[in-house]
Amino acid sequence: HRRRTPLIAGNWKMNLDHLQAVAFVQKLHWTLKDAKHEDGSVEVAVFPPFTDLRTVQTLLDADKIPFALGAQDVSAHDSGAYTGEVSGAFLAKLDARYVIIGHSERRQYHAETDEVVASKVKAAIKHGLVPVICVGETLEQREESGPTAVSVGQLEVALEGVAADADIVVAYEPVWAIGTGQVASPEQAQEVCAALREVIAAKLGADAAARTRVLYGGSVKSANIASFMREPDVDGALVGGASLVVDEFAAIIRYQK
Ligand code: G3P
Repeated sequence: HRRRTPLIAGNWKMNLDHLQAVAFVQKLHWTLKDAKHEDGSVEVAVFPPFTDLRTVQTLLDADKIPFALGAQDVSAHDSGAYTGEVSGAFLAKLDARYVIIGHSERRQYHAETDEVVASKVKAAIKHGLVPVICVGETLEQREESGPTAVSVGQLEVALEGVAADADIVVAYEPVWAIGTGQVASPEQAQEVCAALREVIAAKLGADAAARTRVLYGGSVKSANIASFMREPDVDGALVGGASLVVDEFAAIIRYQK
């Protein structure tokens, strides 16, 4: 089922300032020398805080390090009187390829609704960025409405008005598995990722569903990555805590099927 290039994405959250970021990316690159991400069979992306982006981009460029760069959020607006926000145009100018949208921490702590997420997805695409659209249920929601309903509903709204040929990534991150060490089982991840692929098929068509990477996120570690990658609808991982430890993140990137 590996028609889709696996994507291993490191969401640093609010960790590593721009000086720490340089040391980290250099170490990761050296650790991975001759690993398979160099031949393009696995795509690696890092998502530093906004204040690191310029520095990391310069380093990737200068040392020809084959990691993609992403941001952790984007404004729904293009420019203007939006204090504290960062436009997709600015991110694109910094060679960011990806942007995480709708992470559960933003939904939870910054009251981002499905509608806000949808407008950010459109803004990202408009500026040539690939949105990494995050969806996922809390434990309460899982008990109340089952494993797939919340994620399916969130993705349906997020894809409203998105063109069939748009380049997107979807990430299933069950809230109960984020930073808790309580990882979803591969079967649980597969069940929801398959349901999300059906949403993509219904909204954007069969081609988009076949092409789009659907990631799992939530307590991914080197010890469990292979079990997720064996699932047919899991095309990679969005990694938090373990993406901040060079050897651990390198081991995740080197997962064996
Ligand atoms: O976006 C990644 C994330 O929310 C998962 O975090 O620390 O459980 O890998 P963690």
